[in-house]
Amino acid sequence: MCGIVGYAGERGAADIIYNGLKQLEYRGYDSAGIATLSDGKIHHIKRCGRVNALDGFAQKLSGKVGIGHTRWATHGKPSDNNAHPHLWGKFAIVHNGIIENYAELKEKFFAGVKFLSDTDSEVIVRLLDKFYDGDFALALNKVAALLTGSYAIVAICTDFEGLGVLRRKSPVIIGYGSDGNFAASDAPALAGVCKQISILEDGDCAILTRGKVEIFDSNLRKVQRAKKPNLATAASLDLGDCPHYMLKEIREVPASVVNTCAAFQSVESSLKQALRGVTRVIITGCGTAYNSGLVAKRYIEKFARIPTEVEIAGEFRYKDPVITSGTVIIAVSQSGETADTVEATLLAKASGAKVIAVTNAPYSSLTRCADVVVPVAAGPEICVAATKSYTGQLAALYMLAYVLAGKSADGAAENISAVPKLCKKTLECADIDSLADMCVSSRGVYFLGRDLDFAVATEGSLKLKEVSYIQSEGYPAGELKHGTLALIDESILAVVLITSARLAGKSENAVEQVLSRKGKVAVITNVESVIKRYADRAHIVKVPECEEDISPFVAAVAAQRLAYAAAVKLNRDPDKPRNLAKSVTVE
Ligand code: AGP
Repeated sequence: MCGIVGYAGERGAADIIYNGLKQLEYRGYDSAGIATLSDGKIHHIKRCGRVNALDGFAQKLSGKVGIGHTRWATHGKPSDNNAHPHLWGKFAIVHNGIIENYAELKEKFFAGVKFLSDTDSEVIVRLLDKFYDGDFALALNKVAALLTGSYAIVAICTDFEGLGVLRRKSPVIIGYGSDGNFAASDAPALAGVCKQISILEDGDCAILTRGKVEIFDSNLRKVQRAKKPNLATAASLDLGDCPHYMLKEIREVPASVVNTCAAFQSVESSLKQALRGVTRVIITGCGTAYNSGLVAKRYIEKFARIPTEVEIAGEFRYKDPVITSGTVIIAVSQSGETADTVEATLLAKASGAKVIAVTNAPYSSLTRCADVVVPVAAGPEICVAATKSYTGQLAALYMLAYVLAGKSADGAAENISAVPKLCKKTLECADIDSLADMCVSSRGVYFLGRDLDFAVATEGSLKLKEVSYIQSEGYPAGELKHGTLALIDESILAVVLITSARLAGKSENAVEQVLSRKGKVAVITNVESVIKRYADRAHIVKVPECEEDISPFVAAVAAQRLAYAAAVKLNRDPDKPRNLAKSVTVE
C-alpha cells in the first residue's frame, strides 16, 4: 500500500521526509510527493515514478513541518495529478487506504465541482477545508465522522505549525525523535531517527508539534498510547554487499529460522494453554502467507492428527464460515496489516474461534486481535517478495504443529536445527542459474509436486511470477493429467519438486507426461534415484538431502534463488515488482 511520513521538528522537513519515504517504498512506488509548511504557506512537489523522481526538487522545499507519500495506486492511474499530497485551501493531506464513499461525499458536498485528481483521497482535503473553523483537531474529527473505508491520513494546515493525523484500519505510528515528532505508516521510515514509537488505534486522531504529541479518541477525549521501542534500526536496512534486498533476505533465511525457533520458547506455555481442547484448525492468510499455511496443514495433520483447513483470507471473510467449538484460527501474515487477513481473523474471533497470530510484526493490527502471538523473527523484510519471512513462518508453524500434538517445542527445534546449514548449502547449488535461463526462455512455467512438494510449488510459482513476470502456476503433480496437460508443448517448462523418496515414483509420472508432450523439464530433487533416472532427460538441480518434513525449507530456498536469478536476467527490479506493494492494507 502507500507509505506516508510526517515530521514536525527543528530541522528541514523535506530531507527527513524524503529519507523516510525511501524506506517505505516497499509499500508502493508508482508516484511520490512531499509538502512542507513555512511562513504560513504550503510548498509541494509530486511526481509520477519512484521517490527519487523528487530528487533535486524536494530538497528545495523549505519548512520544518511537512508530509510525504509514496503511492500504490488504487483509484486513479499513476500520474503527477493523482500523486499525493493533495492540496486545497489551507490544507495538504497524504492518505493510505480507500475512502469507499468518496463518490457520495463528492456528490453531497461538492456537486458540480471539478476535482484536480481522479483519486478517492482528494475528497478528504476538500472536506477538511470545508469544515475547518480554526480548530484543526475538530475539523479532522468532523471529517473522520463522514468517511467510510480505511485511512491513515496526515494533514498540514497553513494556520498551524504541526501535523494532524487520523487512523482507521490503515496503520499509523507516532515517532518520538530528539528534535521533533513523526507520523509514519511503519517503523522502517523512522529507523535511526526515533527510538520510541506509539501505535495509533482505530478512530484515533493525533496532533503533533515539534515538542508535543496529543492523541484523542473518536470523541476527542485525550488518550494515552503506550510508547514502545522502535525495532527497525538503520543497520537492519543496510544492503551490505548485496545488489538487492531480495538476495540479502534470501541469504538471511538461516538466521530467520534460528531466531524464530529461539523466539518460540517465550510463547510455548501460553500457546499450550490456548490450544487445549482444540479439535479443528483453520489457517488463513494471503499470498505467501497462505502458501505457508499449505505446508503447515500437512505438519499439523501429520503430527497432531487434527483436521486442518487452509483458507485464502479474502475468500474466508466473505463466506459464512462454520466455526464449531474447539476451532482455532491461525492467521499468518508477515506484516500483520493485510486487510483481508485481519478482517478474516476478526470474523472468526467474533464467531468464537481462538486466535493465534503468526507474524513478523510484533505491534501490528493482527497481534491486537490474537489470543497468542507466535513471533516470526525474520527481521525487517524490505523486498516486496517474501523470502526469509516465508521460511520463518514455516519454522514457527512447524513448532506450533508440534505443540498442538502435545509435544515439547524442544523436539521440534532439534529437528529444525539442521535447516540453517541445509539452506546455506542450497544457496550454493550450481544449477539454479542455468535453470533460470530455462525459465527466461519459456512461455510459461509449471511448478509441480506432491504433498509438501506441492505446497512449496505454489510458493515457488508465486515467487517466480511476481519478480520476473513470467507466467507461472503451482500445480499438484497428479492433477496435471486432468486438463492442464493440454497446455504443455515445447515452449513450456515444468519445474518438478521431488524431495520425498516416498512419493518420488508418483511425481516421476508427471515428469514423463510432460516429456512425452515435448515439454521441457527441470527437477529440483535430493532423491538419488531420480537424479540417476533423469540425468540425461531433464535439467537437474540437486539440493541437499534431508528429512522429508524439513524439505520445504530447502526447496523454498532453491525456488527463491531461482526467481531472483530469473528476475535479474530479465532486468526486473526484484525488490519492487511492477504493480505490487508489500503491505496490502486495502481490499
Ligand atoms: C509475497 O511475495 C507477496 N509479497 C504477497 O503474496 C504477500 O505474501 C501477501 O500480500 C501477504 O502479506 P502479509 O504476509 O504481510 O500478510
